[in-house]
Amino acid sequence: MFNRTRRTRINDNIRALIRETVLNIDDLIYPLFVVEGNGIVEEISSLEGNYRYSVDKLDEIIKEIERLGIRGVLIFGVPSFKDECGTSAYADDGIVQRAVRRIKEISNLFIITDVCMCQYTSHGHCGIIKDGYVDNDETLKFIAKIALSHARAGADMVAPSDMMDGRVKAIRNILDENGYKNVGIMSYSAKYASSFYGPFREAADSKPQFGDRKSYQMDFSNIREAMREIEYDIEEGADIVMVKPALSYLDVIRWTRDRFNHPIAAYNVSGEYAMVKAAAKMGYIDEEKIVFEILTSIKRAGADIIITYHALDVARKLNNR
Ligand code: PBG
Repeated sequence: MFNRTRRTRINDNIRALIRETVLNIDDLIYPLFVVEGNGIVEEISSLEGNYRYSVDKLDEIIKEIERLGIRGVLIFGVPSFKDECGTSAYADDGIVQRAVRRIKEISNLFIITDVCMCQYTSHGHCGIIKDGYVDNDETLKFIAKIALSHARAGADMVAPSDMMDGRVKAIRNILDENGYKNVGIMSYSAKYASSFYGPFREAADSKPQFGDRKSYQMDFSNIREAMREIEYDIEEGADIVMVKPALSYLDVIRWTRDRFNHPIAAYNVSGEYAMVKAAAKMGYIDEEKIVFEILTSIKRAGADIIITYHALDVARKLNNR
């Protein structure tokens, strides 16, 4: 006598009946890049199949996202003006602020905005530079101002990705003081200093002009430190915690799931997307199958939400099943 696990794999029906993890459209958030200017829909060369849109060209893609049943978008701004302290990030008529107002006007999508400074600063770092170092506490004032301006424009949730200490608290305070008690915070809690962000930095023009981000983003060797980051963000009031990137960090997602009860978002980042696209183009892999395997593995590791550039393709596939 021995156990025959193959009995429950014998055909599609029984496989579906015992399936433990199923990817849903409800799990997905689509990252969307908005750019200053008019009449612009330009493909992002490093993120094939994804585009930068000017505000006047958003309607069609927003309607498509809604039609596919995707619940939310994560908005990234590509501003035309940069300075030392990222002024255009919190301008009332800034690119993200205008995009959010338009999306609110024409849809019911859940709007999350990326709150950071790197696209907006001339030096490309995620904060205010003092003596060649990103000054934590000075940066908090700006991060809070940016978050508030997004909330004013109509964002449902803000997502700080700068990795300064104390940012969740600073944002929660300024939102509450200004009457935005129901605007949530999805914190990029365990955000690693990763080479997987390369294609994004090309898309958003946010490469640091000197040095790297290792003094604020996490060392990829560490996992207990990630648990501290998450613990602090939860204490400070984060509603959703994020692990980023996803694929090389499935253990971090699993540790988070086992230790915390907050919803977890995982960011399937630009480099992960670009690798799939490149290998598919070479004919080495079957893109559609690989994407389902990857996203299901992220969910199996414990993520509730997956932010992914594959979201539209996946939703299309799930819809015509
Ligand atoms: C901004 C930000 C980055 C990403 C999301 N927000 C770039 C970075 O930290 O350098 C990366 C997303 C991706 O690679 O898809 N700080």
